Order: sequence, then structure tokens, then C-alpha cells
Amino acid sequence: MSVVDEVKQKIDIVDVVSESVKLRKSGKSFSGFCPFHPNTRTPAFYVFPDTQTWHCFGNCNAGGDVFTYVMRRDNQDFAETLRRLAQRAGVPLMREDAGEDAERKKIRAILASTAAQFHSQLKNHPAAKIAREYLERRFISPETAATFELGYALNDWETTRNFLRGKNFADAEIEAAGLIIKSEREQGGYYDRFRGRLMFPIRNRNSEVIGFGARTLTAEEPKYLNSPQTALFDKSGALYGIDLAKDAIRAQDLAVIVEGYMDVIGAHQAGFKNVVASLGTALTEKQLALLKRMTKRYALALDPDAAGEEATKRGLEIARDALTRKNVPVPMGAGLIGFEERLEAELLVIPLPQGKDPDELIHENPAQWTDVVQRAEPLVDYYFRVLTQDLDLKTARDKSIAVKRLAPIIREIGDTVQRAHYTQQLARLVNVAEQMITRETARDASAREKIATRAAAPLSPSEVNLGETCLTFATLMPRQLARVSVLTAEDFIDAAQRALYFALKEMGAEFDRAALEPEVGALFDLLAERARQFANMSEADLQREMEKAAQRLRLARYKTELTVIENELNRLGEEQRGQGVAGTSDEERLLHASAENYRKGIVESQRALTALTIVNARPNVTEMV
Ligand code: UTP
Ligand code: MN
Repeated sequence: MSVVDEVKQKIDIVDVVSESVKLRKSGKSFSGFCPFHPNTRTPAFYVFPDTQTWHCFGNCNAGGDVFTYVMRRDNQDFAETLRRLAQRAGVPLMREDAGEDAERKKIRAILASTAAQFHSQLKNHPAAKIAREYLERRFISPETAATFELGYALNDWETTRNFLRGKNFADAEIEAAGLIIKSEREQGGYYDRFRGRLMFPIRNRNSEVIGFGARTLTAEEPKYLNSPQTALFDKSGALYGIDLAKDAIRAQDLAVIVEGYMDVIGAHQAGFKNVVASLGTALTEKQLALLKRMTKRYALALDPDAAGEEATKRGLEIARDALTRKNVPVPMGAGLIGFEERLEAELLVIPLPQGKDPDELIHENPAQWTDVVQRAEPLVDYYFRVLTQDLDLKTARDKSIAVKRLAPIIREIGDTVQRAHYTQQLARLVNVAEQMITRETARDASAREKIATRAAAPLSPSEVNLGETCLTFATLMPRQLARVSVLTAEDFIDAAQRALYFALKEMGAEFDRAALEPEVGALFDLLAERARQFANMSEADLQREMEKAAQRLRLARYKTELTVIENELNRLGEEQRGQGVAGTSDEERLLHASAENYRKGIVESQRALTALTIVNARPNVTEMV
């Protein structure tokens, strides 16, 4: 049994839901007000103890098991939910450090002891006075310096190397950690990379040091020197402060992204702990992948100077791309992991007052920070402002420029209502008939296709069709639906289909068309109309046709899920490397096991389908005889 199934067996979904929703027993199930959509008048939220599932027949029209419930309720990713539910159920998650190769392990050890050494030098070494004074001038308290383990690298060429050699590390290893550089003059010689600088250990989400940032305390260039790329450190995948910020990001459901190390430190010292920095580059896809596990709301605090704005735009484009992929892994039972679409992420921009770092702003007056964060504007509004500020929108020429700049951005908005909203806004801004603008902002088929292929789990039309076929037979005999045991609600990727399946199955013989949501009712009518062509078929034939359609549907879904999992495993592998995270994570292990189960499931399904087809072929054979 997989860990997921074991957890499900030991935890009762009714207990978990009851923690936050008042449930009333109604027949075999429980009902209450849906915690995921506001102000409902009817208790449309159901919990089914028999199947250990939940479903909201109201606005959400969503459902799942105890995992999807807790993921939604606590806004947590799957891995975190698994850890917490497994702990609650007393199911151990295996942890082995296989896969962590020797080199990375060495680098990890070297960096950890170097960070401690730099920190101790900062506190105690007479030569570090310049750094201590600098921190004082920047209003950084000794406690904060300790929290971030800030340090000082002495201003000579060999202290770090000698310190590490004293700990029995070899030059080649110290070099691989990025701390010393091979000398060009002297055969076999090395010198320290970081000299006379204030040291900022950069950590991954597990608080392990993966590299350093180093600030000059004189006018020396560059102002910041960073660790080079190593087996552990990839600048484009790291976020400064992530280890200290992750809990606050989850709790506040908002990640604030700033540009500088000092901005993170200043923010945390003042109690704003949901702040991380992107190491001086535009935000990358890898960095967003890391944040996506914690929240889907991001606010970028941006330096309003021109260079900053360029970087911002690039960063935001990447962000938008990365965020259109909005599938999250959810357990499906029997050791299978599926993917569920989540709401798209929200990208906000915090406009900083001209010429002020977050650090300065916060130090001047912490309330100012709260204020600018609250005034963060949605990305598209920000574009409207920034991309039109140099234009005179009364002139024909500038109107045309504004549309040229903004229409492509509007076109990329996935949400139809939001797209319509901004189309209207643009029409009003340039005072031109809305239809003219719609022509520019409407999405052509190719754009939609591009997005569909980018999404990890594309809505395959064949799965939609197969789902419809299943339900078409089911409209003729809802009671048999429960007997087609291979199917579960998750087999239907279309929300209306899923709801109809649920309604048909749960209500069985008491099926009542009037109880359906309008959209679901419409689907029922359509399929019932289509089913009339089968009215003359025998019940046995109908049942077999339904089973065949069910097997085909399941086969199609298994294949899709398998592809998604394989992609996800590739992505996770890259992401972990990028962030210097060691070994195989629980999530990866589960996905591997799940992929294996899907492969088995595919074989089984194919076999079952063949069996059904052969049975079906028999009448023809007898006819021929
Ligand atoms: P800033 O110059 O704004 O840094 O660069 P800061 O953190 O606010 O530092 P202070 O306040 O001047 O002390 C923003 C970030 O860009 C990266 C660093 O990550 C820095 O924190 N950077 C900057 C570099 O990597 N190299 C540089 O030479 C400069
Ligand atoms: Mn600064």
C-alpha cells in the first residue's frame, strides 16, 4: 500500500472536515456550507464517509479526498500536506539520503563551516571592526546578524583556505565550493575568493548554505561578489532569505520579492518576514517554482529607476509564463498521483517611491512599508500605467502606440472575464470603440493552443469525448454507473462532467434532474438527447458499452497522468539541482511509485478493454457461422 493510501486509511475525512466546517448528517453522507466559496445560502458541500471523499455541488463544483481538502484549506502544496497528514496518522515517510553525491556533500560541509567561521570572525576578530561598524551604520542589530549568520572574510589571501585545510578539506574541494581561486602565477597555488568583505550566506529552503554574497566595505568593485556556479549553487534558482521567509509566506499567502540582500534583512528585522530577494537578477522561472509551493500571490517591490524597470519587465514576463502552469499534484488513491488545476497566480507590483530601497523605506518608517505593500497593484494595471506614461493619449499616433503596447499583454490573460475587463479599460483609455480593441485583444486559436501545450495537463479533447460517451450511457441507467467500478469522479477532467457523474452515481435510482446546477443540467439534457439512439439496445449490451467507454476513458487519463508525472519528475529534478537540494525528496519518490502504478494500470486497462471487445465480437462470429 502506498503511503498516501495508508494515510487515508488511518484518517477519517469527516474528522478532518469537522475541524473547520459544521457538518450535519444527511442520509449516508454529511453536508455543510462550503468552506471554499463564500456566502452560500444552501449547504452544497458534502462529505461521503463511505468513499472518504468530499464534493461541493455549488459554485466550486469541486471535490476530492482528504488530501485535496487539506491542500485547499491550508493552502499548502502536496508534499507539505503529505508530511503533515502522515505525521498525524503516524505513518512514517522513509528518508534515505541516497542520490546525494559525494561532491555535493563535501561542498555542503565546507560551506557550513565557512559560514560559521566568517560569523565568528565578524563577532570577535579585531580586523572585523570595520564590518561591525558598517552594520551599526546600517542599523542591523547583533541579533539580526546572528539570525542571518552574517560574517566577515578577513582581508588577506589565505585565511579561508588555511582554515579549511585545517579541517582536512583538499584544495580541489575548496575550489569546487567556490571559495578559492587557482593562481595563475604559482603552480599549485590558490588564493581566497572573498577578502575584506561582509559575508551573506545564501541558503536553500532547508536552511543549508549553498553559496555566499559578499559586499565590499570600501569602494571596491564589484559592490557585491557572489559565489560562482557550483554543484550546489545556481544563482538563478536561489532566493535569499527563503528559509526564514517560507512560513510567513505561507501564513500570509503572499511572497514579497525585493532586489537586495540588505532589503531582506531590513524587512525581517522590522518583522516583515514574508520577504525574499532574487539575487540581483530578474526573477527566474526556477525561483518562481520554489515560491509556488508556498503561495500563489507574489508582490514585486521594484526599484523605479529605468534599469530596474527593464529588469522588471523581463522578470514579469518570465513570471507570467511560469504561472500559467498551474497544475498541482494530488493523490488519487491506489498509489496514484494526479494533477489538479488550481487558480492562476496573482502577480502584484509594489511601486516604490522614487529613489528609495525597501530597506531605507522600512527604516524611515515601518508603516510606510505596510502601506506600499497594501497598495500593490495587479501586474496588468501596472503595465497600463508604465507603458502609457510617456504618451499623449489625445493624439491619434499615441493612441495607436498605446494599443500596440498593451494589446499583446491583454491577449495573454488567460481568464476571459479579466481579459474583457482590460479590453474595456483600454478602449476607454484611448477613447475608441471597444470592438476595435477586441479585434486586437481577442485570442486566436494558435495562442490558445500554445497555452494548452504549455499547461502540464492539457485538456485532451478525446478525454472530454470519452467522458461524454460514458455519461451518455449512464443517463439511460444511472444505477449501473455505480457498478462500473473502475470509474471515479477524478476520471472526468471536465468539471460539469464530474458533477454529473457524481449526481448520477450518488442519486442512483432517485436521480432528479431538477437538483442539478444549470450548467450540469444542460449537459444532462444534451446527453439524454444523444442517448435516445441507444434506447433499443438491451441492458446487457448497454452495460458493456458503458464499461468499454469507462475503460477507454480511464486508459486515456492514465496516459495523460503518466506524461504529466514524467514531466513533473524532470522539472523537479532540475529544480532541486538548481536550489542545491540534496537527494530524492518524498515527493519525487511518491511520483516515481505513482508512475509505476500508472504503467501497471495502463496494462490492466488495455487487457480489460481487449476482453470486452472480444466478448462484443462474439455475436458477429456466430452470425458468420
Ligand atoms: P543593490 O545595490 O540595490 O544592493 O543591489 P542592496 O542589497 O540594496 O545593498 P546596499 O543597500 O547598497 O548595501 C541589489 C542586489 O543586486 C545584487 C545583489 O544581490 C544586491 O543585493 N548585486 C548588486 C550584485 O550581485 N552585484 C553587484 O555588483 C551589485
Ligand atoms: Mn540598498
